[in-house]
Amino acid sequence: MICRGCHANGEHDFWEFCDLGVQPLANTLLTKDQLLEPVTTYPLRPMLCEKCMLVQLPDLVSPEQTFSDYPYFSSQSATYVEHSRQHADDLIKHFLMGEAWRREHAGGEGRLVVEIASNDGYMLRHFIRGGIERVYGIEPARNVADHATKRGIPTFVDFFSSVLASKLVESKDGLVTGGRADVIIANNVLAHVPNLSSFLVGLRIMLAPEGVVSIEVPWLKDLVDGDECGTIYHEHLSYFLLHSIEYALTGQAGGLRVFDVEHFPEIHGGTMRLYLCHGSAQHEQTERVREWQSVERGWLVSAPLHHFGRQPSALKQAVWSFLLSQKVIDRYVCGYGAAAKAATVLSYCGVGPELMPWIADTTPAKWDRYLGGTQIHITTPLALTERRPDVIWVLAPNWIEEIKSKLRDQCDWHPHVAWQDGTEIRMERL
Ligand code: TMP
Ligand code: ZN
Repeated sequence: MICRGCHANGEHDFWEFCDLGVQPLANTLLTKDQLLEPVTTYPLRPMLCEKCMLVQLPDLVSPEQTFSDYPYFSSQSATYVEHSRQHADDLIKHFLMGEAWRREHAGGEGRLVVEIASNDGYMLRHFIRGGIERVYGIEPARNVADHATKRGIPTFVDFFSSVLASKLVESKDGLVTGGRADVIIANNVLAHVPNLSSFLVGLRIMLAPEGVVSIEVPWLKDLVDGDECGTIYHEHLSYFLLHSIEYALTGQAGGLRVFDVEHFPEIHGGTMRLYLCHGSAQHEQTERVREWQSVERGWLVSAPLHHFGRQPSALKQAVWSFLLSQKVIDRYVCGYGAAAKAATVLSYCGVGPELMPWIADTTPAKWDRYLGGTQIHITTPLALTERRPDVIWVLAPNWIEEIKSKLRDQCDWHPHVAWQDGTEIRMERL
């Protein structure tokens, strides 16, 4: 094992602090025919590199395997769509307008914004609307990229790396490519990247001298403090602190530095947004970065991962006691939101169709498939009104408020709504 962040490779550099058993890939959605085939499972045991504090899984699965047909569409959550719109507007206001920018770009080809893992174009469309001259996305999953292309957002179907960055910067292929970017966005992608150094070097290659990289990634501290073990699945290879990213940036992938950081506790169970620039750029480091560093240092001293290792089995007990208590009083329980974290939790807890016959989800690409590892059928939210379950277990607890308000409109028979909160299952009447 070699640490993805700092390249440590000693036997004693890693600590396996948590065991989530063996599980199939969380984003695998099976067809009815595939239910009859054997399922490949992989160990799910995250490790902490004690040198740079990066929590990681070994890359047992190739990214091609994960992203050839990816069932995740960023536009499914209104909360996330609104978060992204605000983010785009802020980036335009702070980094793509104003005097400094005009001076630097006098006579240039116009502003360039690049998004890595641009998904269905949920974010880039705001830059096009905002009049940014050149905008393009890089997205490895063709089925998702096609949605963006249909919306008129130029999208390269590829994995980002230092090699791709050089190729795109030097490309003379039309207006869209070529040149360095004023803003690069990389949201919810860093955790998926097997070769972190190549990715970070790629950012450096692609970034204009005074440009800004904006990265959003789940924050390990929120994951651990919120006991969100469902967020740990094979497609998430790394779990970051600001500390581990800064460590990686000063190592082989040097040249960039973090100059600002923001916290979004409500996004994906707790997200940090980092702003990076070239080491020599004029962006001053904010006080927020120093405060964040000090919070992380204090937190690490409290040895939080010792406690976290006990969470999966506590959650399993809570899930079983919740489902059995509902069964005893003959309540009909269904799921809502076939998120990857739902697959992790249900598959780890051994919940199958006998306890939860189906899960409703708004994503058409997931309909009539089966949640990998659980064999539970995924169907449209119309099933709720047709079958009127007594209890709806929301399996995407990170969107609980948005989903509750949607269910209030749809379910006039006032079912109960349940959701996971750390190692507890909470329930209330709609
Ligand atoms: P995520 O937690 O990885 O964003 O996945 C959320 C899943 O829940 C995804 O499959 C979309 C689904 N979903 C709904 O079906 N309805 C909703 O209102 C929301 C917010 C999500
Ligand atoms: Zn390390």
